[in-house]
Amino acid sequence: MGSELAILGGEPAFAEALHVGRPNIPDEGLVLERIRQAIDRRWLTSFGPLVKEFEEELARQAGVKHCIATCNATIALQVLIRAGGLRGEVVMPSFTFIATAHTLRWEGVTPVFCDIDEETGNIDVAHARKVITERTTGIMGVHLWGNPAPTEELAALADEHGLRLFYDSAHAIGGTRLGRPVGGFGDAEVYSFHATKFVNAFEGGAIVTDDDALAERVRLTHNYGRGEGNHVSCVGTNAKMTEVAAAMGLTSLENMAYLIDVNRERFDRYAAGLADVPGIRLRRPSPGNTVNHQYVVIEVDTPGTGLSRDDLVATLQAENVLARTHFHPSCHRTEPYVHEQAVSAPLPLPHSEALSDRVVQLPTGTGVTLDQVDQVCALIGRAVRHAPAVTKACLA
Ligand SMILES: Cc1ncc(COP(=O)(O)O)c(C=O)c1O
Repeated sequence: MGSELAILGGEPAFAEALHVGRPNIPDEGLVLERIRQAIDRRWLTSFGPLVKEFEEELARQAGVKHCIATCNATIALQVLIRAGGLRGEVVMPSFTFIATAHTLRWEGVTPVFCDIDEETGNIDVAHARKVITERTTGIMGVHLWGNPAPTEELAALADEHGLRLFYDSAHAIGGTRLGRPVGGFGDAEVYSFHATKFVNAFEGGAIVTDDDALAERVRLTHNYGRGEGNHVSCVGTNAKMTEVAAAMGLTSLENMAYLIDVNRERFDRYAAGLADVPGIRLRRPSPGNTVNHQYVVIEVDTPGTGLSRDDLVATLQAENVLARTHFHPSCHRTEPYVHEQAVSAPLPLPHSEALSDRVVQLPTGTGVTLDQVDQVCALIGRAVRHAPAVTKACLA
């Protein structure tokens, strides 16, 4: 057969698994030193100096006045949805991580799913316009895989209808659109610092905004509704970030430029290694955008490869390359929402469904060497060359 692919009986190419989203540990010594200082101060959480420094740096980089750090992005989105007064219906792209939808629903808001532009992976603004009703109070954009959404068009749409415009920017810190950094678009943006994210704080999130009144409301909401003198003025929750998380987040943030270089190098290597593999397309940032390259995503065109997306993933996993298929299925096809289609998803959403059937995320970041990237590309090439045998093995 002339193939050493594990799925056809060979040995796995990697003894140790290659993971998508393996955490970047920026400067272990500095992280531990900052944690030690926090312990010495006996100031472990609740607006400590590390959280303050992290917030100031995030606001500075985003070019906005306010940043409120949180324990994760899911709670940050909930806090923002509530503090921002979203009610009724909010338009969002279906092709995103499920947290974007859940946070709206959790706050009693109906997520109205709209389709995406397959080329960019981001919200299709023309379709978003079509699903706006008299109950719509906002738009939740997503910078998918760090690739900034069409912010100018969305701002115009939100203005036209008097809607709030927020961004789920969980993937996108470090990116820019038309020279402007992510973090300053819409009324507010939300970052995630989950361990798998580009900048990580073990778990963490942040809301960045230039809107003074919204920032004040977010600050109260993320701290039990308590403000000056512990006066409680609204219903709130506990969304605060700890000093330990900020120690990691701050150190990670200080290393952002280095981490972008690491990711870009790997992205370029994937681009070179996959250029001649028929039916495989590496996704790139949209014109006018720069990204952090934390997400290396390929599309599998089955007529071109002779191989289904799922069979390619099974082949890579047999080699210990733990490729992923985020985001499959799209939100509107998940159990909690599929039954609510009449209210939450004006079907069909053909582009979300088509893209979610084609995508594969490949490992990158500091946990993957350039040689390993070459090996992954070679495996993909070999799987495509042996597509009929691979398909047969997957069926068996
Ligand atoms: C698009 C998107 N939104 C929100 C989240 C939630 O982030 P967190 O894990 O910080 O709660 C994620 C996490 O992966 C995400 O990918």
